[in-house]
Amino acid sequence: MMKHLLTTLLFVTPLALGAPTARAATCDRDFLKAQAASYVAAQKAGTPSLLTNSSSSSGSTISYTQNFKTATLTTGILSTPLRIDHNRSIYDTTQCATYTELISTEPNKQHVIGTQLRFSPETLTLSKIETIVTSKGDWLFDPSATLMYSFQESSQGLWDDIPLAKRDTRAVIQAAGDAYLDLFNNKSVKVPWGTPCARLEGGTYIQPSCNVGVPSGIRNVNRRYVVDEVVGTVDVFFDFAGAEPDSHEFRVEGGRLRLVHTMTVMK
Ligand SMILES: *[C@@H]1O[C@H](CO)[C@@H](O)[C@H](O)[C@H]1NC(C)=O
Ligand SMILES: *[C@@H]1O[C@H](CO)[C@@H](O)[C@H](O)[C@H]1NC(C)=O
Ligand SMILES: *[C@@H]1O[C@H](CO)[C@@H](O)[C@H](O)[C@H]1NC(C)=O
Repeated sequence: MMKHLLTTLLFVTPLALGAPTARAATCDRDFLKAQAASYVAAQKAGTPSLLTNSSSSSGSTISYTQNFKTATLTTGILSTPLRIDHNRSIYDTTQCATYTELISTEPNKQHVIGTQLRFSPETLTLSKIETIVTSKGDWLFDPSATLMYSFQESSQGLWDDIPLAKRDTRAVIQAAGDAYLDLFNNKSVKVPWGTPCARLEGGTYIQPSCNVGVPSGIRNVNRRYVVDEVVGTVDVFFDFAGAEPDSHEFRVEGGRLRLVHTMTVMK
């Protein structure tokens, strides 16, 4: 009798709720991977509307900045088709955000681009695009070199997923990046330097130590983070010396800095 009742309940309940209810959307890794991939496809085609989950029919407006200035999708870099020689993304399921590094060595359209996408965690709609576009004349700009070193690191597996048992917490990953950026203005800060550590600064490769040529008297402010524990990485957008649009991306292993990628727009 009891068993029969349970069976009945199990079968009746979904009907009692009416039409099949849509599964609550969650900002998981697969969702963010798909969004970053559609961003890369949109940049390749020069067609912003290829961004999924950006439907204007949802009534939401997307905030878009290019080199930290308010921009328009139809006239911004996203409307310029670019050959994509390299792309790599990280995924922050806690904040529902992604960061993507893009390199294009296409003649006359050479750029190294960093983009943070932010989504509403409730509706999974794209709410904000911030993009840093570095070009000829920007700090140590050399896209062929950036491509070579980025490709080398990726093919050596240096940006691969970290085994579950060895992953750092978000707090540890972010603190390592913050310590590095704080050092520019405070030489007492203890930075968790890893060994070896390689810094790809524009197109210049600095190794086996990253504790080289860090300036002083520079305040790095207005930081916006994307943190991915799976790959032990934080990307930070900030105003270098309170002025220049800058991205620093840090790979952290066992709490220590192993890789740094920088792009800085010279105004
Ligand atoms: C966003 O994407 C998810 C998963 O792909 C989908 O379920 C959801 O309906 C989309 N939301 C909007 C507003 O496009
Ligand atoms: C982006 O990178 C992924 C993984 O490396 C690759 O499979 C994909 O084809 C790339 N996308 C473009 C548009 O080049
Ligand atoms: C500099 O860093 C040290 C070590 O973290 C800290 O104790 C000190 O308060 C910092 N100084 C300033 C001015 O922020």
